[in-house]
Amino acid sequence: MLKLAVLVSGGGTNLQAIIDQIEAGTIPDTKIEVVISNNKGAFALERAARHGIPAECISPKDYPDREAFNDALLARLLASGADLVVLAGCLVVIPEKLVDAFPNRIINIHPALIPAFCGTGYYGLKVHEAALERGVRVSGATVHFVDKGTDTGPIILQKAVEVRDGDTPEALQLRIMQEAEWKILPEAIRLIGQGRVVVEDGRCRILGQ
Ligand code: GRF
Repeated sequence: MLKLAVLVSGGGTNLQAIIDQIEAGTIPDTKIEVVISNNKGAFALERAARHGIPAECISPKDYPDREAFNDALLARLLASGADLVVLAGCLVVIPEKLVDAFPNRIINIHPALIPAFCGTGYYGLKVHEAALERGVRVSGATVHFVDKGTDTGPIILQKAVEVRDGDTPEALQLRIMQEAEWKILPEAIRLIGQGRVVVEDGRCRILGQ
C-alpha cells in the first residue's frame, strides 16, 4: 500500500484527479492518509472532506516564525506515515529539512515543460502569462521529484499541450490542467507505487516502458 500525504493551497483539482483515480482503481493499492493546506479557505480541503479523507490546515500564520511552521509541517507528515508527499497546487516553499526527510519521495506538478517557465516567481497564472508573452506554440506540464532547488528535481513525466491563437492565460491554464496535469500527476503516483520510477545520476528512468 502506497501511503500519500497531499499538500494543497487552492482549488484542489489536481487532488480531485488523484482521488478519482484511486476510487476508480486506476491507481491501485494507494491511500491518501492526509491532505494538508497552508490556506484554511482552500476548496481542496472541502474536496478531501467530501471523500472522508483527513484534511487539515497548517498555516504559517499560526506560528511565531517560519522555522516553527516548517517543524510543525514536518512533524505532521512524519506522523502520517506517508511514503510519498504530493504537492498538488501547493504554494508553500518546501524547507530543506523536509527534502532531507523525504529524499526523492516528494513530487510536484508544475504547469509548464521544465526547464521552461519555472523557478522562483513562476507559479499559477504567471507561468501561462510568461508562455504567452514568449509566444511559444507548445506548453504543458511536468511532474518532478522535489529537491532543494525550485522546480529543479529529476523529471518524472511531462505532457505537451498546444497553445492556440487568442489564448488567454486562464484558457491555457485550464487546457494544461485538463489535458496534462490531471493525467500525469496520477500516472506518476501509479508508476511510483509500482516501483517503476528510478533515479540515476539525477535523472529518472521509468522501468518497463
Ligand atoms: C495548477 O495550475 C497547478 O499546476 C498549480 O496550481 C494550479 C491549481 O492547482 N501548481 P489545483 O486546482 O489547486 O490542483
